[in-house]
Amino acid sequence: MTLLDGKQVSNDIKEEIKAEVDKMISKGERVPHLAAVLVGEDGASLTYVGSKVRACERIGFDSTLVKLPASTSEADLLKTVEGLNNNDAIDGYIVQLPLPKHIDEQKVLLAVDPDKDVDGFHPTNFGRMALDMESFIPATPYGIIELLRRNNVDTQGKHTVVIGRSHIVGRPMSILMSQKGNPGNSTVTLTHSRTQNLEAYLREADIVISALGVPEFVKADMVKDGVVIIDVGITRVPDASHPKGYVIKGDVAFDEVSKKASFITPVPGGVGPMTIAMLLKNTLLARERRSN
Ligand code: GUN
Repeated sequence: MTLLDGKQVSNDIKEEIKAEVDKMISKGERVPHLAAVLVGEDGASLTYVGSKVRACERIGFDSTLVKLPASTSEADLLKTVEGLNNNDAIDGYIVQLPLPKHIDEQKVLLAVDPDKDVDGFHPTNFGRMALDMESFIPATPYGIIELLRRNNVDTQGKHTVVIGRSHIVGRPMSILMSQKGNPGNSTVTLTHSRTQNLEAYLREADIVISALGVPEFVKADMVKDGVVIIDVGITRVPDASHPKGYVIKGDVAFDEVSKKASFITPVPGGVGPMTIAMLLKNTLLARERRSN
């Protein structure tokens, strides 16, 4: 069994990006600048956005955190987005999800300039990705592809079963795995909450990509020997014995499934760290594309 070490691979990628930033600095060029918009005080979102901003600082990017109160109106958030679209100093930005219930998420994502949409959530980028055109690929799917590529995991002609059809992970993952290329050329089954007999698909899978959010859902008896496991789940499970009061659990029962797997991502330390690295990569790409 080989551990797909997202911490290691993400550090390699961040080093590569840092080298590019150093080159920009030595040429007297402007460094990439990422902005993040956070509306409200959601605990997990605060943690994620904090990590993104710190990662920027570590590799030499400029970063801006735009923190707005939970009571911010949709109109005011749209004004903030417009301001970032028109701000030449900002190469790319993200609006952290979820947004408060009184704000129409789709309306906000549609307002983001596709050329600055480093999350890859705008329909223009999603469509371009699906058509093999230059785009911004959402960070988590992009990170999974890099993790597979850099570990030489063979996906050609394999049966990939994706669990979950979210716009952020499952749906784009199903597209990327079926595209021509390496990683890619996979035969993909996209399963979801209405799938009948999910276990029958899992037992046939060469590669399982789970983005379900149910702790330890995938058990050893549901997968075949030699399976490749990509676990996107990161659920906080209450645990009084832990200083934080919770532990992070993946979708996969790691201890038992890892005994049958050829490759497996740990949680934490698998897909999670890759997501931030690929957001930085997208920001570097945004910076490069804007200067061309
Ligand atoms: N919320 C959970 N994941 C993400 C992400 O990748 N980007 C944004 N903007 N919000 C999120």
